[in-house]
Amino acid sequence: MLDEPTMTGTNGGAQFFDALGDVQSDSLLALIAMANADPRPDKIDVGVGVYRDGVGNTPILRAVKAAEKLLWETQQTKSYIGGFGDKRYTELLRPIVLGRHADDKRIAGLHTPGGCGALSLGFKLIATAHPGSKVLVGTPTWPNHIPVVQAAGLNIAEYGFYDRLETRIRFDEMIAAFNAAQQGDVVLLHGCCHNPTGADLSLDQWREVVDVVERRGLIPLVDIAYQGLGRGFAEDAAGLHLLLDACDEVVIAQSCDKNFGVYRDRVGSLFLKTAQADQTKRAMDHAVQIAREMWSMPPDHGAAAVRIVLDTPELRADWDAEVGEMRARINRIRGQIAAADPRMAYIGGQFGMFSMLPISRDQVLQLREKNAIYMADSGRFNVIGMSDDAVDRFIAAIVEAMNG
Ligand SMILES: Cc1ncc(COP(=O)(O)O)c(C=O)c1O
Repeated sequence: MLDEPTMTGTNGGAQFFDALGDVQSDSLLALIAMANADPRPDKIDVGVGVYRDGVGNTPILRAVKAAEKLLWETQQTKSYIGGFGDKRYTELLRPIVLGRHADDKRIAGLHTPGGCGALSLGFKLIATAHPGSKVLVGTPTWPNHIPVVQAAGLNIAEYGFYDRLETRIRFDEMIAAFNAAQQGDVVLLHGCCHNPTGADLSLDQWREVVDVVERRGLIPLVDIAYQGLGRGFAEDAAGLHLLLDACDEVVIAQSCDKNFGVYRDRVGSLFLKTAQADQTKRAMDHAVQIAREMWSMPPDHGAAAVRIVLDTPELRADWDAEVGEMRARINRIRGQIAAADPRMAYIGGQFGMFSMLPISRDQVLQLREKNAIYMADSGRFNVIGMSDDAVDRFIAAIVEAMNG
């Protein structure tokens, strides 16, 4: 007979981890759990942050599936990949992410576990070069930005980026905050498809941002996690390319998780530009060293599939078409919502998967209880979180809530 398991503490009864207390749960995860638990068959979950097609699925892209098959057939080893990860993968990303700057030797890339890994590594690299630097963050922003910056040991200075009730960018405040920043302060910028607001800078606004960033000697860190899902690959990186035109030092945290639909495979990259190629090389050696302590080496599978897609002309063409289909669906539903009521017209001029409704928390809760529509308390919703046949019902419920 087996011994009874010991139920009391080990180590002489020490309860070491009891000191940790409760975690403040992520409100979006709690929302997803609530939506899952709702038995109403016509519920609409627009809280979750993944692409959904017309029938509500988050499919594996055809090009990715084909690449995975090729990978399975041809991969010869699963030996260690090394600190830089898949070098061919980052090489193939260069024209997409860097555009006309793809051949600039002062820019080097490194494969990371998703955009989140790239952000963590980018901020840790900044903290290694300049401990205690200040990072200007426009609010609201993707909630994980804040802990990632803090975990790197950097200080945060927030400024108001978006007025939710007036549904517009607080551009004057942004520029004023940048003008008041010190040389060497870091500015965190969303490359495109701003999460959570959908409010992207116009090209003219980018020009002004680039001007003040360059003039004040600020270090831009551009988070580009949705390239291709807004206006198109080149258009979505146009602001980033203007920054690269003007600035000697730029950090880019990139993700393939959305535009290749490989969320769980964790596929991203960190690109760094400094004034000189040898300086960039030295800094990237530091980045590899830091990554070694964080995740040692990035996961191979997803990046290998992306590499095969980009390296195989037919798959590349199919992927372009699939991203085009995703983008078209996002923009079609945006147009549908925008046309339904003048109070939502702004949604048609925004980009990416998210927008924020100018409604109160009570109205959000009412939509949850009465209509089984689940969105974040802030009014942020995933434009393509609903299936095609739910769009009219969604619009009618929002208009009803707004009418009070
Ligand atoms: C603005 C933004 N940056 C970065 C990320 C991280 O992406 P990944 O899943 O590749 O880590 C996300 C994910 O939702 C995001 O919305």
